[in-house]
Amino acid sequence: MKLIYEKSQAGRRGGALPDPGLEPGTVPEHLRRAEPPRLPELAEPEIVRHFTELSSNNFGIDSGFYPLGSCTMKYNPRVNERVVGLPGFRDLHPHQEEEDCQGALELMWRLQEILAEVVGLDAVTLQPAAGSQGELTGLTLMRAYFADRGELDQRREIVIPDTAHGTNPASVTMAGFDLVKVKVDARGNIDVEDLRSKVGPQTSGLMLTNPSTLGLFEENIEQIADIFHDAGALLYYDGANLNAVCGISRPGDMGFDILHFNLHKTFSQPHGGGGPGAGPVAVRAVLEPFLPVPVVVRDGDRYRLESDRPKSIGRVRGFAGPFGVFVRAYAFIRMWGPGLKEMSEIAVLNANYLLARLRGHYDLPYDRLCMHEFVLSARNLKREHGATALDVAKRLMDHNFHPPTIYFPLVVPEALMIEPTETEQRETLDAFCDAMISIAKEAETDIEALRQAPHRRSVSRLDEALAAKRMHVRHTFEEPARA
Ligand SMILES: Cc1ncc(COP(=O)(O)O)c(C=O)c1O
Repeated sequence: MKLIYEKSQAGRRGGALPDPGLEPGTVPEHLRRAEPPRLPELAEPEIVRHFTELSSNNFGIDSGFYPLGSCTMKYNPRVNERVVGLPGFRDLHPHQEEEDCQGALELMWRLQEILAEVVGLDAVTLQPAAGSQGELTGLTLMRAYFADRGELDQRREIVIPDTAHGTNPASVTMAGFDLVKVKVDARGNIDVEDLRSKVGPQTSGLMLTNPSTLGLFEENIEQIADIFHDAGALLYYDGANLNAVCGISRPGDMGFDILHFNLHKTFSQPHGGGGPGAGPVAVRAVLEPFLPVPVVVRDGDRYRLESDRPKSIGRVRGFAGPFGVFVRAYAFIRMWGPGLKEMSEIAVLNANYLLARLRGHYDLPYDRLCMHEFVLSARNLKREHGATALDVAKRLMDHNFHPPTIYFPLVVPEALMIEPTETEQRETLDAFCDAMISIAKEAETDIEALRQAPHRRSVSRLDEALAAKRMHVRHTFEEPARA
């Protein structure tokens, strides 16, 4: 496909504005443009066709099945967009007076209340803009809590399992703690004996996602919570996998004290292109005084932003957070109502259906019922035929499926991490399994078809390391700009 600059023809126009008949402005001479900007010159239909073609080269949840493990790429109900586009929400200004935006504040307050109820904790801040920022916020709250108790110098360490998502160790380091790793055992649970030897008066807390990134529920969570609480430490829950447990089990009841949500995963949001997201944080009452300000509070039937909280860690984001995400998440949760439990049950059922169909064709490193996702390994295909997880992922694109997450978690070689979500129908799940099975067979009969895949995409294999390190996103004109 050509770049829009390559399609440009001097003198072509997509539209013409009438001369406004105004006097030239009073921009000082040295600040004036010496020449017009070098914009592409095209007729309007060509512009429309260009961007339509570009969009059709992209893959999204609206174009097909997107089983990207740990990312919860679920269908985004269109009603969310209707609601977020209501003028009262759409036209709000961040500096609006509180009196003029009571409805928006009420929505935020209600969302806080619902989120606290879903996870069994006491108070919520909506501010963080993503799961990873929620992690940093949560760990900063932990710091503030221990500093307030005069224990911060002593409690330097955070424990995380070796299955943790990469953002967890990064957040621990950014929050100024030292990282202590704990192993998982043969069933995919935290190795409790290894853990015991690593928790003590030096420990601030544990960071864990449950179900884990292996898609397995931590069977010893209550025992683990006791180990940390007995040592005076706290438990942090990475809520990226909350889609597995809504209405079924609550992290607060498991013993967790701090948690972030990924609203854009669990509660739908068109986040495939890199945003927008939201990573609210929920805490137990003892941590509430440290939450970021402003906090949305209710006084009788009025709502306001409260900033007078002396122990607060301060602001973690501009204004009150990503409001459009709140509206969509709120609409989504209200649409399910008390049936939210069914959402998680179907997500778990769908994952187990896929697992049951695929287990004979790929290696299964942890042979247990899974939660909302599971991890297979292509190491059998690699050992026997030389086909890698990357080959399988690329070949899936020829079957019109987005590849699953690959090579993560790191403890599984040739990992394929698959998450169907609750929004997929049985026919789609079957078609995906058929494709996965045919790829496993193809590894045996036609390895080159896998190695050269994808065959039907606008680009084939990219040098991803080079693309990341030497990103070239600027058009180079043949003629240099005139001085
Ligand atoms: C387990 C886990 N934790 C944390 C995150 C970070 O969330 P975000 O991408 O919203 O920053 C992710 C994101 O993929 C994740 O899968």
